[in-house]
Amino acid sequence: MSDITSVSTQDGGRDKIFIFDTTLRDGEQSPGASMNMQEKFRLAQQLVMLNVDIIEAGFPIASKGDFECVKYIADNIKGVQIAGLARCNKKDIDTAWNALKKGDNSRIHTFLATSDIHLKHKLKMTREQVFDLAVESVKYAAAYTSNIEFSAEDATRSDLDFVCRVFEAVIEAGATTLNFPDTTGYALPEEFGKQIRYLVQNIPNIDKAVLSIHCHNDLGLAVANSLAAVNAGARQVECTVNGIGVVTKHIHPTSHMVSTITGMSVQPNKAIVGANAFAHESGIHQDGVLKERTTYEIMNPCDIGLTKGNIILGKHSGRHALKDRIELMGYNLVDEEVNRVFTRFKDLADVRKEIYDEDLEAILMDEIIRIPEMYELVSIGVMSGSMKLPTAAVRLKIEGKEREGAAIGVGPIDAAYRAIAQLTETKSRLLNFSVSSITGGTDAQGDVLVRVEDRGTVVMGYGLDPDIITAAAKAYLNGLNRLVYLEKESLKSTAS
Ligand code: KIV
Repeated sequence: MSDITSVSTQDGGRDKIFIFDTTLRDGEQSPGASMNMQEKFRLAQQLVMLNVDIIEAGFPIASKGDFECVKYIADNIKGVQIAGLARCNKKDIDTAWNALKKGDNSRIHTFLATSDIHLKHKLKMTREQVFDLAVESVKYAAAYTSNIEFSAEDATRSDLDFVCRVFEAVIEAGATTLNFPDTTGYALPEEFGKQIRYLVQNIPNIDKAVLSIHCHNDLGLAVANSLAAVNAGARQVECTVNGIGVVTKHIHPTSHMVSTITGMSVQPNKAIVGANAFAHESGIHQDGVLKERTTYEIMNPCDIGLTKGNIILGKHSGRHALKDRIELMGYNLVDEEVNRVFTRFKDLADVRKEIYDEDLEAILMDEIIRIPEMYELVSIGVMSGSMKLPTAAVRLKIEGKEREGAAIGVGPIDAAYRAIAQLTETKSRLLNFSVSSITGGTDAQGDVLVRVEDRGTVVMGYGLDPDIITAAAKAYLNGLNRLVYLEKESLKSTAS
């Protein structure tokens, strides 16, 4: 396990770049990206495989659910530092520590804004008050742990001499990491690099701590700014799923997992993890890559866990071959998960001659980010076409008992959803529905994603099947199961 305090003060450790992953905290704050406990835990396990140094698991004071998630992750994920966010006040810090205390070298991450805009309009405090509160809060946290990070919120729009003064004082008070966030995603690489250099040169005791940065991507410059900062002397990069200094073969699976859990697809032209990252349309490029991959590819797709385009397994392949393949793709599953994936794989192989990595990846996501199912699809049949009134008959297993219903709709999916809504007696609203295909060809699997809302709670639902009506029914039921699961979890935490 990396020990930030000793590394930052010993020779030989100063060139290490710490990766602080905040997908579970700041990433989750992106609109529509919230995750449940099971999803966060699964992602935390994946981040360990990615070999990040610190996982920011949440903001424990924010809600009971957030507290439980941070606690569960700190109690159960070992070999990596777990951080929890806290504003500069005693209640936040106490709550963060209560969630974190059983972790391996857990970190309290406390923050306070330093820009005049925030001081005047949000905090209504003077610089002196902010200075005193920052020092007092770090001292308070130091009674719990020596692993303390202090962030100067909106640092890039703050007076740099003021930030230097605050950082110097909080290091004295016990902070071991100082974070300089570009909260509004406003910095430009050259200017950001200059700011970091200024801090390095003007904080007398900076050698006693790790200087960190945290760049938002509002102008699409987060990676460029982070690299400029590292070049200028920053030694911790706060990021969401990212490729610096990690076990690279887990990058693609982790990216895929985040996208599945949050329901935010990765745009095809996104660097490294987008679908087009290693695709070549131009004849000249294709010719070059076929002759020698490095003519047009600066990295090997396998190095980021992408075994793209290979026709992999068919219906005669066995469990062992499947397990090997899954591991090669960067996933680490327990036997029970492999068994479930194997069953699904065989079902698909019965109807499709060739199974691609993309198919397998979709099944993997479907199976490993599972939640308990109150509603299960037993069968679905639809009648539709230009001369017919679309009608769906659906059979579900609801808490072990089979029930059947039928409905008509404006289209076959509408009819199926109406039948499901009647059977489950749901009061939820369907907010979005999207369908895509996992691979090319008319025999591709349909991948359906829905967003469903019930009394203010919004969940995603996923469904995968070669039949798109079945995939749509599965996605809707998955969303409804998530709503039931969340309700049960919140009742449990209210009772305890
Ligand atoms: O963006 C930001 O300023 C933050 C801090 C709390 C690090 O998220």
